[in-house]
Amino acid sequence: MNIAIDGPAGSGKSTVAKRLAKGLSFIYVDTGALYRAMALYCLENDIDTKDKAKVSEAVNDMDIALKYERGTQIVLLNGRDVSGLIRTEEVSKNTSVISAYPKVREKLLGIQQDIAKKNDVIMDGRDIGTNVLPGAELKIFLTASVKVRAKRRYDELKERGEDADLYDIEKDIKERDERDTNRDIAPLRKAGDAIEIDTSSMTIDEVTKKIREMV
Ligand code: DC
Repeated sequence: MNIAIDGPAGSGKSTVAKRLAKGLSFIYVDTGALYRAMALYCLENDIDTKDKAKVSEAVNDMDIALKYERGTQIVLLNGRDVSGLIRTEEVSKNTSVISAYPKVREKLLGIQQDIAKKNDVIMDGRDIGTNVLPGAELKIFLTASVKVRAKRRYDELKERGEDADLYDIEKDIKERDERDTNRDIAPLRKAGDAIEIDTSSMTIDEVTKKIREMV
């Protein structure tokens, strides 16, 4: 069985998908991590992420793979575990830029579809219901107001002991929304047969329970 969860940054996708996957014994696939690994490669190799031609060429030098250790997803970039390194705000911003490039998306499509073909998965991203798994048995589109999503990210960073500014986070989220929604290929969009859930005033438990009932 394949479950697709799409939505903008901070809508609660990964938290809810992880919980559901655990309860159902499904594999949780965080597709954003694949795009993040590619952005990290660019940053580490001084490739300007705004340079579409350079990034598209560099895609050939990137070997991206996923593996699972005790239910936790590990992202490998040319054989190296980069799961921790891809979680910075700098990587977030640059990922949103490179994920608009066709060569980047082409490279990752097969990896995602292959895992879903072989396993029961809950996959989260931006174009899972519309593009990666159009035949998924259940499609969820999670949303929340920009203010709520920024506050969630802020709390998350604070909890990790990192410096955070609510205004900056809100600005970043708006920019990423704009790019992810308005790009030409595979933009963030609700699939026609997806069920939309606004999580702005819901707890994680409430959202998880609601989707679990649908499953
Ligand atoms: O879910 P995330 O925040 O880790 O995603 C990071 C970026 O990757 C996001 O700005 C858009 C891009 N992305 C995408 O284009 N398609 C996906 N299926 C997942 C993520």
